[in-house]
Formats: sequence, structure tokens, C-alpha cells
Amino acid sequence: MEKFTLDRKKYAALARQAVAEGCVLLRNEAQALPLKQGEKIAVYGRSAFRYYKSGLGSGGLVNTSYVVGILDALKGTNDIVINQELLEIYESWLKENPYDEGQGWGRVPWSQKEMPITDRMLEIANEVDASLIVIGRTAGEDQDNTAKEGSYLLTKDEKSLIERVCKVSKRTIVILNVGNIIDMKWVEEYHPQAVLYVWQGGQEGGNGTLDVLLGNVAPCGKLTDTIAREIEDYSSTSNFGDPEKNYYKEDIYVGYRYFETFAKEKVLYPFGYGMSYTYFSVNSEIKSNQEESCLIIANVKNIGNYAGKETVQVYVNAPQGKLGKPLRQLVGFAKTKLLMPGEEEILPITINKDDLASYDDSGMAGHKSCYVLEEGQYEFYVGTDVRSAVKIGAFDQEFKVVKQLESALAPIEAFERIKPVPMGDSYEVDMEEVPLQEKGSVDDCNTCTSSEIAYTGDKGIKLVDVLDQKASLDEFVAQLDENDLIHMFRGEGMCSPRVTPGTAAAFGGVTDRLQQYGIPAACCADGPSGIRMDCGTKAFSLPNGTALGCTFNPELVGQLFAMVGKELRLNQIDSLLGPGMNIHRNPLNGRNFEYISEDPYVTGKIATAQVKAMYDTGIGTTIKHFCGNNQEVGRSTSDSVISERALREIYLKGFEIAVKEGYARAVMTTYGSVNGYWTAGSYDLCTKILREEWGFDGIVMTDWWAQANYLGEKANKTVKAPMVKAQNDIYMCVAHPEDNPENDDVKQMLDVGYITKAQLQRNAKNILGYILKSQAILRFTGRISKEEQQAMELMTSQQERIVDPVFYYADPDTHEIVIPGSELNPKAGESDVFAISADIDGEYSISFTIKSELGSLAQLPISIFFDNVFQTTVSINGTEGKVIEETRDLCYVFGSNHYVKLYYGANGLEIEQVVLKRRGD
Ligand code: BGC
Repeated sequence: MEKFTLDRKKYAALARQAVAEGCVLLRNEAQALPLKQGEKIAVYGRSAFRYYKSGLGSGGLVNTSYVVGILDALKGTNDIVINQELLEIYESWLKENPYDEGQGWGRVPWSQKEMPITDRMLEIANEVDASLIVIGRTAGEDQDNTAKEGSYLLTKDEKSLIERVCKVSKRTIVILNVGNIIDMKWVEEYHPQAVLYVWQGGQEGGNGTLDVLLGNVAPCGKLTDTIAREIEDYSSTSNFGDPEKNYYKEDIYVGYRYFETFAKEKVLYPFGYGMSYTYFSVNSEIKSNQEESCLIIANVKNIGNYAGKETVQVYVNAPQGKLGKPLRQLVGFAKTKLLMPGEEEILPITINKDDLASYDDSGMAGHKSCYVLEEGQYEFYVGTDVRSAVKIGAFDQEFKVVKQLESALAPIEAFERIKPVPMGDSYEVDMEEVPLQEKGSVDDCNTCTSSEIAYTGDKGIKLVDVLDQKASLDEFVAQLDENDLIHMFRGEGMCSPRVTPGTAAAFGGVTDRLQQYGIPAACCADGPSGIRMDCGTKAFSLPNGTALGCTFNPELVGQLFAMVGKELRLNQIDSLLGPGMNIHRNPLNGRNFEYISEDPYVTGKIATAQVKAMYDTGIGTTIKHFCGNNQEVGRSTSDSVISERALREIYLKGFEIAVKEGYARAVMTTYGSVNGYWTAGSYDLCTKILREEWGFDGIVMTDWWAQANYLGEKANKTVKAPMVKAQNDIYMCVAHPEDNPENDDVKQMLDVGYITKAQLQRNAKNILGYILKSQAILRFTGRISKEEQQAMELMTSQQERIVDPVFYYADPDTHEIVIPGSELNPKAGESDVFAISADIDGEYSISFTIKSELGSLAQLPISIFFDNVFQTTVSINGTEGKVIEETRDLCYVFGSNHYVKLYYGANGLEIEQVVLKRRGD
């Protein structure tokens, strides 16, 4: 049983440690941090009062049982004394200036109005030992950051707060509770003694931050992005944010690759940077230089007074050769254990020489479509950030073709990209034409060679017979007719009644007929920072992707995600929709919080730790968004025009690592297009690169309601046949897969021969292969051990009560969804949650037929939540037994399956029925 017990304490402790290890200390003058025992502290900034546990959108919708913010954590310790007067000043101001929720999805304010500082507040700053200022930011899905005040830039009030507190306080410590790096010029203007990025740390965020503030953990996080002076300094900024088309002219020169090569002076804080409360000496050497690899040994010694950890980073400076190279490229890193003062550790870091190869997309180095090591000296730089890393040696390399590949996903329209040209001791930006797709390699060709499996009809073979090796997968698939195969292409969601309530989708056995063949409905749920269950079920909220990246600690991340795997398994979810692996191409991307870094190597390694840990618990992950999903604006309309080299070396590299080293079993394509093809229909991406080149044998799914196109045309909702052809196995998602509610063209294109039955069978085999290796088939066939079964039941019983997930289908004439009162249990402090299926989109209302024996002064509130978002409260008075009807507007309902939660504020209600109805019907 213990194997299946979710040790929530351990879970929280690991998350807390990850938050602490992800904190990046950028500045610490005169040892402003850590706070000392008994010190008097003033806490400024309204964000201290409402912690951003994560960013916005699908990745931020985890329902938690608690969130410890920074102020909560500070209040919970006796080690320091918080100035109460200042807290009260803020609290009364906050009553007048409540948190602005905005208009919901995609329209939440990036920040909140800051309280203008008063003279008394400044006096307090002068009276205390240290002032903490918390600055908060959010952004997310469908909502990029903007280079404006309140988003990437501080507001005037925030600046004034920092400026004025810095002038009078003995020590000012600025804490950044943000999803992503923000403008940092103000540090030079106001000189706060300490600056700490604490990111968005999930439900243990405040506790992890407290550990760093108090010095229980010496900070050891390292920036996974470069912080430049101006947003315009980033090489991608001028080609970022167009809703139609973005030319990736910066090519492979993203983040530090650009700055270290061309514009060192523009950097405020380099990639990999982060201070500690202690100091380390790092002495490294190339211990051995073999034909295939180099072994680098770093001797790290704690030469300060605090226990701490340090991360050693290895960068390569490859010869410019004919292709041109960035002057630094991260190729390895290792983190020490906790070193006591005086303690040392030797870190071995092995670098495979082949991993240093560049992709020749032009043939300029003589071998087109090959990874090549160009001739010359490969210098290793080792240190604790990219800028201060020192040269420790080099090896000489003859020209070598590392791997011969095929051209894939090449751009189809002309543009220019950056290339370095030497100018004295440095390099300047030159531009060169990007090689284009050659005629004949168009990925629109019908290259599925697998032959059609002859239809046999039902032979009585169940999927489990394949598991038991009583039949082959081909024999099983032979039983499925065209319609079955097409239905399996369609995932069911969101909130499919076939799987765990509130999750993103079901796949596999999405019709009764498919289930009769023994195909279970497998379940996937968002991700990445915890499990999202829209019916209100609670789950653990994790630190965001950037925070996890900054730990530079794959081992710790792996331990944390082993807990996530267990939590998923107990919730009967087969795949988490994460980790998010897109590259922080630009600081303004709203979803950077979900992603890890501007660098593909650290992205790949941290994601691999997650994927592998969950895989080891029997749970899949869905690495996303594949690929080039680097902005939110126009994410389903914009075409990213990217060279093959930049794709291979930057935008695909992390995914490749997670597939090859982490055994990722599922991949989610994007909403948008890369080089003319919407990714879900890109054969080059989903078949040639992912499967043929990398050996991936799992499933590919679309992002939710993504589109595809035929070459040269715009994407369209009905265009889905290219997905089938590309081997994007599952379209996510529809309410009823049999009904073809989106009028997709799969059958039509099958009939005209654009796609073949063999392709549908091939894709079905991918899905079934996945399911055969998942818990879903074991659950479906009752093969779960008794202990695990009990643990799952315990988990369910501890969750919020859900009225049987019975679906109340709308009456076709009245479009009414009727929930009889007998299904409800209105008791003070409790809730009922029920699932509905509203088949027609539109504005809905909710009516209660209700009574109470209580007198007319009795107050009886019912709060209504729709998909876990509060809508309204109906407050009725006692009716002395008379039945009344109360109707309220609910919200716009889009898509079929949803959850309604009724929270009862008082006893004494008797509900006869609740009716949801489309307004105007
Ligand atoms: C997001 C995905 C997410 C999916 C399901 C989409 O809007 O882009 O990352 O997994 O929704 O919620």
C-alpha cells in the first residue's frame, strides 16, 4: 500500500526545496540577505498580499487546497518581526483597492495598481532593519507580456516605491514574484541592496522563498535567460509578435548565443548567473580527451561561511568554420550537493564531441543536411555563468560528418539570417540568405509506405489479447472499420465523461463501439505545473517551468515529478500535458513561465528529468508545444519562418533530448504554423523528424482545437486530413467523436484518396501501442492491484463530492438541462458539483426552484461556479415553505462538457430542481 500512498508532506517538502533552489539572487550588497534572527522587517508592495502561484491559462488552473504566499510564510515564522502597522496600512488600502480580476481568460491585468507610498510608510522603512518589496507580474496563455509599464516595465508607482524606500531603509530587498524575467534597469537607478527572483512557485512558493530569505537555504538558482538592458537589445524583438508572420532572422543566435557573440555590453545579468550567501572556488581541467568524448573535472570548494550548492557550467566555443558559430554554447552542467564551509566536491562532466556538431542546412560546409563538426579548435569554458566562465583547454578536431539526415521542415520563402563576421577581436552581425526547401522535398507527398491491413470484421479479439500476446496488433486493428479508425482520430473533451472528471481529454476508446473491442479511454490532463481538473478537484500546484529550470538540478526535479506521476496515477490520469518546452525566444512571450529557458540544452535536461521520473511511475507526459510556439499573439494564425539549422539546434533540440533520453511517449503539436505548414499537419515535423530521425514511437496530438492547412492555403477548422497524413494521430478535441461536430474532412479526403486507410490504421496503432503500455488498459481490464485500487478509491473519497458524473443532455426542443433536487445535498459549507452537457453554444441562465421552511429574515446564499470560476451568488430568504423560482444569468457556454458547482452558505434550503437553459430559447 505504501507504494501507492501519496506522501503529501514529502511532496510539499520537495516542491519547497525546488522553489528555494530556483530562486536567483542577482545582487546582495553588504550581505543584505539573509535576514537575521529577530530583525524587524517591513513588507511593501501589494503583491505581498496576493501571491502569484503561477501564470495564466491552461497551465495555471490547478485547484489547490492551499497556497502559501510570501507574506503568509513570513507571518508564520518567529525568526523575524514583521511591522504590523505597515501591514494594516496596506490591508485597509487593499479594501478600497481590491484585486482586479480583469475580464478573464486572456484579459487579466499583468499587474495590479500599486499603493502610492505615504510619509508614514517611509518612516517605517527607516525604523526597521530591512524592507522587503514584493513586485508581482503575471501573463500567460493568449496574453503575451508587453514592453510597457505594468508588464515588462515597472510602473511609476512601483519605481517610486523602490526609489523612496531605498533612500531611507537600511537594507532594501526587492523580491520578484514573476513568471519570467522583467526589465531590470531600475536596479542601477535605485540600488536596492538585494534583488531576488523567486518566480511563481506554486502552492509552496512562499515557504521556499522564506527558506532563502532566512538563510535556511543559500540561494543557488541560476538564470536560464539573459537579462539585457533594453527589450530592443534581444535579437528576436524586431521579429516578435506579428500575428501573421515572424521571420526568425536571429537564427541560432538566441539569448546568450547572440549577446556573447555580438553584444556583450548590452547584458545586465548573464545567462547562468546567480549569487549565493557563500563563495565557491571552481578549478576545472580536461581530465581526458578521447576520440568520442572529453571528461571535464571541476573541483568546487565552499570557501565562504554558509552551507550552499554551486552549479558548474561548461560552454564550448566551436571554430567558426564555414557555418559560423556562437562564441558560447552550453554543453554540460553539474550541481554540487550541499557543501559545508570548507567542503569540496569533484564534479565529473562528460561531453560527447558529437553533441557539439552544427547542422549544415546550406551545404556550405560541404555536407548538406548533416550534423558536422567543423575542423579546428574546440575550446571549453567553465564557470558559474556564461560571462565569467574561463577557458580551461581545448581539443583539436578534424572535419567530421556526425550524422547524415534529410532536409526537413525547411523554409519555403526567402529571408536573411544573422551570421558572424570577424572584426578585429570581436564579431559583427552580417546577414546571409537562408537556404530554402529544395524542389522535390515537399512534405506534401504521400509517403506512408505501410500497407493496408485487410478488414476482417469482429473476430472477437480484444485489445487485452494483444497485451497477452494472444493476437497481434495488426490482427486487432483489422477488425476496425473506417469509421472506428476515424473516431479514434478524434479525442473526446474537454471534460469527457469517459475519464477522470474535469480533465482535458480522453483518447483511444472514445466511442462505445471502440470500448466493446476492449479499448479503454485513456486520460490526459493539463499541466504542466500540476494537475488541472476543472470540476474543482484539488491537486498539487508546482513551481513553474522557469523556476524549475533555474534550479539546474535535474535530480531534484526528477524526485518532485515522481510525486506528480504518483498523483496522476492515483487520479487515473495517463498523461500530463507537459512539460512545456518552447524556447524563451523573447522575454515578452506570455507563456515563458511554463517553459524553461532560452537555451535548448538546459530545457532538454530539465524536461527529461520530469519525463523520465513520470515514466518510471508508469505515467506518460506530453511534451509541448511542438514546435516554434514562441508567442501567444496570433498563435493559431502566425507562420514562424525558421531556418532548418535554427530548428535543429534551438527549437527542436530540447524535444529531441526529451524523446531520446527521457522516453517521452506523447507530443503535442502547436496551434500555429512553421514554414508554411500548420504543425499538426506537418509530415516533416511529425513523421520525418520526430519518428524517423529520433525513433519516437508514441502518439502525437494536436493542441486543443488546432487547425491544419493544405500548402499555400490558410488553416481552416474543417481541414484535418493533413493531420492524419502527417501522423498527428489525434485531433483534440470534440464532444462526440461519432458525430463529426466540426465537419472535418477526414472521410471526404479518404474517399478521394488524399489519405489512405493504411494511414488511419498506422495512426490507430500508435494510439493503441501507447495504451498497451499505459495504466489505462490495466484499469479497464481490472488488472490494477488491490492496493492501488484501494489507494485510488481513497484518493477519490478525499476529493470534493461529485454528484455521479451523470450527464443531463439538453432536451432537443427546449434545450433545458434539468438537475433534480434529489441529486443535490444543500448543507452549509458543502458543495455539489455536477457535470452538464450543453450541446449548443450560447449565453445560459440558471434557475432554482426552491423553498425553505425558515422565516423571511433567514439568509440562504448559494454561490455558483462554472468550470470552477465563480459566477454569481443567489441569496434567497426563508420562504416559510412556499416554492419560488430564482433565475440568474450564468455565462457564455462554449463546447459541450462542463462542471457546475453549487456552494451552500447556510442550512435550510430545499431545492426541487435546477435548470440550465440557453437564453432566448
Ligand atoms: C494549450 C495547451 C493545453 C490545452 C488543453 C491549450 O489552449 O495551448 O497547452 O494543454 O489547451 O488545456
